[in-house]
Amino acid sequence: MSLLIKNGHVVTSADSYVADVLCTDGKIAAIGHNLSAPVGDEVFDATGQYVFPGFIDPHVHIYLPFMGTFAKDDYSSGSRAALVGGTTTLIEMCCPSREEDPVEGFELWLSKAQGVSACDYTFHMAVSRFDDTTEAKLRSIVDRGIASFKVFLAYKDFFGLNDTELFQTLALAKELGVIVTAHCENETLVAELQKRLIAEGKTGPEWHEPSRPVEIEAAGVHHLLAFAEATGAHCYVVHTSCEPAVRAAQEAQWRGVKVWVETVIPYLTLDSSHAELPDFEGAKHVMSPPIRSSEHQEFLWNALRTRSISTVATDHAPFDFAGQKDMGRDDFTQIPNGLPSVEDRVNLLYTYGVKRGRIDLHTFVDVASTQAAKLFGLFPRKGTVALGSDADLVVYDPTYRGKISAATHHMAADYNPHEGWEIEGRPSLVTVRGHVQVRDGEFVGEMGHGRFLKRECTH
Ligand code: URP
Ligand code: ZN
Ligand code: ZN
Repeated sequence: MSLLIKNGHVVTSADSYVADVLCTDGKIAAIGHNLSAPVGDEVFDATGQYVFPGFIDPHVHIYLPFMGTFAKDDYSSGSRAALVGGTTTLIEMCCPSREEDPVEGFELWLSKAQGVSACDYTFHMAVSRFDDTTEAKLRSIVDRGIASFKVFLAYKDFFGLNDTELFQTLALAKELGVIVTAHCENETLVAELQKRLIAEGKTGPEWHEPSRPVEIEAAGVHHLLAFAEATGAHCYVVHTSCEPAVRAAQEAQWRGVKVWVETVIPYLTLDSSHAELPDFEGAKHVMSPPIRSSEHQEFLWNALRTRSISTVATDHAPFDFAGQKDMGRDDFTQIPNGLPSVEDRVNLLYTYGVKRGRIDLHTFVDVASTQAAKLFGLFPRKGTVALGSDADLVVYDPTYRGKISAATHHMAADYNPHEGWEIEGRPSLVTVRGHVQVRDGEFVGEMGHGRFLKRECTH
């Protein structure tokens, strides 16, 4: 079966040209002019629209037992929402707690996606404990196609590692060529500041940010990268929210440490005033690290433009406002941390990045697709429009105008942190390995079409 996309403006991280793209048997089979499809197969006229490689979200949580509850999406809602928003590959954090067995955890996370997901998927394997049995277990998980680990310097006693375990994890990663993704915040300092604020009666969501100030995040980055330097491991700092944290990574790069930086769409669009909204509405914007004041936002956009930041993910972690976020109504430390945004990342980045002149189209594709593919062992199968690549394509209509709303989104959360935000463009057609999964903002495809992506270690 073939699909021919005619006359689209193909944009990759490096190139920009008008062409036809022929997809056959799940792969890109031809790119050129005046191509034709076999009789009876679909021809889609993309005149006036962009053709982007399928977008990759390198940091999502779908199945997430966390802070006494579970994130709201499953692969049925989460993968559909991702696809409607143009994301064709999800890299989920597989996060068993310290008490759980990593191999059993991996099987559990895999089972949630297998046969259900509508888009392709893989996992970063969290290392939440390192004991005498861990190395062999991690080796077996890597053999099954997992090329990246995840470590938490925060959430001590649940996901967090102590320093000896961190060293052991990074040393093993170096030996295996695995890249280590890391949540960087100094948890001891967070816990002390939380205690002090609560004791002073500062219990509302607006105190979440002051309990995790920028210096605590930068200290986490610095700490991680001292271990990266000592072991030689390659690291990727997830959800970087502020200037001091990016600068800590840059300083390490100048020392020769191999480190890449991710930011996430809420940090580029929202600011700390959202956590100060009255009537506990601020809880809708509680995530960690916290959403910062607006000067950090401009710094992040500039760091993206100059590629000091390599990727824009979501850290999608959806919790309902009613029944979940309100667990912390009397104590902000009990508000489940996380925001839903897997559906809106691409449209927000296009509208508030490309259309507002902050980044160009190539940077947009690079940070939302290509870099993730390169860093995590998926390139050139994913992340580009090229002969032989998977036919994961997003035909993008730049004339579309609409508004984000929980009333129309496909994510399971009962609110949207970007409620009412205008978007200036959206996918009109989304394919996963040549199969049309989305047309004009609606999922029209096949659940269970998504595949687990086995990856090679490339670091
Ligand atoms: O607040 C956040 N980021 N929630 C999800 C878990 C994590 O730390 O990534
Ligand atoms: Zn995190
Ligand atoms: Zn996360």
